[in-house]
Amino acid sequence: MKRTALAAANWKMHLLAGEARAFCRRLRDEGGDPAGLPVAGIEAVIFPSFPLLPPVAAALDGSAISMGGQDLHPEDAGAHTGDVSGAQLRDAGCGWVLIGHSERRRDHGESDELVAGKLRAAARHRLRPILCLGETREERRAGRTFAVLERQLRAALAAASEDWVVAYEPVWAIGTGDTATPEQAQEAHAFLRQQVAELASPAAAAALRLLYGGSVKPDNAAELIAQPDVDGFLVGGASLDATQFLAIMHACGAARR
Ligand code: 13P
Repeated sequence: MKRTALAAANWKMHLLAGEARAFCRRLRDEGGDPAGLPVAGIEAVIFPSFPLLPPVAAALDGSAISMGGQDLHPEDAGAHTGDVSGAQLRDAGCGWVLIGHSERRRDHGESDELVAGKLRAAARHRLRPILCLGETREERRAGRTFAVLERQLRAALAAASEDWVVAYEPVWAIGTGDTATPEQAQEAHAFLRQQVAELASPAAAAALRLLYGGSVKPDNAAELIAQPDVDGFLVGGASLDATQFLAIMHACGAARR
């Protein structure tokens, strides 16, 4: 089954408004058609931090590049200082949301149950979720990678909408320069797809896009996307530089089967 490659930029807690605008301008100029995508045949989404949503929405207005929030609260409104609701993300122009990133699981103690609540909130507000999951270095060393992935996936599955995307982000590869080998990424992705086939349905598994994240760079993107179950990337550090992110987008475009 054909799955459209997805290149996602997770800016984390980086960039100021002027830099974000310049980045978007560069992407829009690249393909020659400001209303199109810089690379044909793929999908692209940028996840800026909350204060950057309005300038990025304005800079992407009328383009085919999408925008998403880096997190959302499981409730729709209420007394939750510092949190952001799905309704607010939609109102700001988001079509997507990241859920369960390992930095949130680590820094904010997000549990699998909370992640499931956030997936339900995303569905209520018609935000396409990218569920992030992955094992730590200790878990991999202890031979528990598949058990961890299965636990995280199982907890999320019942709460996820049909159009969800899953990002395999081994914690040991995030921001470390220690990219998973193409074989390691493929092995984890194939496992996740098989789990979805068993726990949901073969059709859901065939349609699901599985992104890889963790030290993705222009020089390793091509060999990773060549793997049959790697359908795109969730890029951190290299997504802060338009030239590097564009190169990763081009790798996605060139590899489409
Ligand atoms: P890096 O690309 O900086 O390793 O970050 C990956 C990531 O966490 C994307 O969500």
